[in-house]
Amino acid sequence: MISQRVRTIQPSATLSLNAKLQDLIRNGSEILNLSVGEPDFPTPEFIRERAKQAIDEGWTRYTAASGHIEARQAICRHIARTRKIEVEPSQVVISSGAKQSLSQCLLSLVDPADEVLLGAPHWVSYPELIRLADGVPVTVKTDSKDGHRLTPELLEPHLTPRTTGLILNEPGNPTGTVSSADDIAALVEFARANDLWIISDEIYESLIHDGELHSPFSVDPQRVSLISGLSKSFSMTGWRIGWTVCNEAQAAAMGRLQSQNSANPCSVSQACIATALEHHDHPELLSMYETFRVRRDLLVEGLSGIPGVHFSVPGGAFYIFLDLSERLGSTGIALDAEAFAVRLLEEKGVAVVPGPAFGSEGAIRISFARPEAELRIAITRIRELLCES
Ligand SMILES: Cc1ncc(COP(=O)(O)O)c(C=O)c1O
Repeated sequence: MISQRVRTIQPSATLSLNAKLQDLIRNGSEILNLSVGEPDFPTPEFIRERAKQAIDEGWTRYTAASGHIEARQAICRHIARTRKIEVEPSQVVISSGAKQSLSQCLLSLVDPADEVLLGAPHWVSYPELIRLADGVPVTVKTDSKDGHRLTPELLEPHLTPRTTGLILNEPGNPTGTVSSADDIAALVEFARANDLWIISDEIYESLIHDGELHSPFSVDPQRVSLISGLSKSFSMTGWRIGWTVCNEAQAAAMGRLQSQNSANPCSVSQACIATALEHHDHPELLSMYETFRVRRDLLVEGLSGIPGVHFSVPGGAFYIFLDLSERLGSTGIALDAEAFAVRLLEEKGVAVVPGPAFGSEGAIRISFARPEAELRIAITRIRELLCES
């Protein structure tokens, strides 16, 4: 009964783990949940107020399938300010979250059996979204000791005549990687030389702790589809607003696709796009970004110096990816990362996501989208398990 396409799709690993945790919590266990993938802050009040007003103003009907013109114009102004590129509303497609943007983008770019390159560790959904578009994900391992740098030298051996595209994600989930301008320029040059499209997922764009984001879209706006949205930078995960900015022909194709498979994203949420982007430096937002930076520093300090444990300092987002591979195995602290995560949950009450969900064995992802007091206790317990076993 179920189609071949959907039968092979795995449920989102982070979402299913979260469901298990919610069960444990409902049953009275006290868990420090560091598996979360969304900011632990309410949506800023000025955005909530705009939504209430928008309902009364009548933002309650269908909009254009690719998004309301005012919202797309606001995204154009945002791109001009942050990526230093002038774009037209006809180059913007607003979808129901960045995940849908990625899905529509891949469905518009990938033909059956096309191979799509991506660095590992990678966000959980990329391989499944590529497969849903009948493409083949080709993962390329990066190393924590090298700051998870993805380079043309690493990608080159994986090129085949079927390779058509490359997915980049900065700041990265789960590593927090933010590349240098030179590294991004080299990756765009590699794509040009091999005639590849690039999808650049920049959903954590405002959560930068060191330096700045270098978007490949600024280097080659014809070749690159920029994906972003309100979810993480504005603490609006439930509002479901993501967008794609790309060349006009591709945006038109995505618009046609979206007009048939979902139509416009929520009109009330769209009404808040201009308000959010125009107040990108609102004190409530700046305070959230600063809090994430302080927590990042706390974790980096607290988890440093554990024998056999490596990580690269996350330059953005709200995750730290611990490489435990030297401590795992038949004579190690646990057989593999999953077994370690189970020990951490059962013995210490700390929930994290094991690395295999991100295409990386022997590691765990720790989220710091939790209050500082919780993080301090979690650091102590993680250290206990790793240093006393
Ligand atoms: C790298 C990355 N891209 C996209 C998304 C999806 O974002 P949205 O909630 O806007 O669909 C996430 C959410 O966890 C993510 O981590």
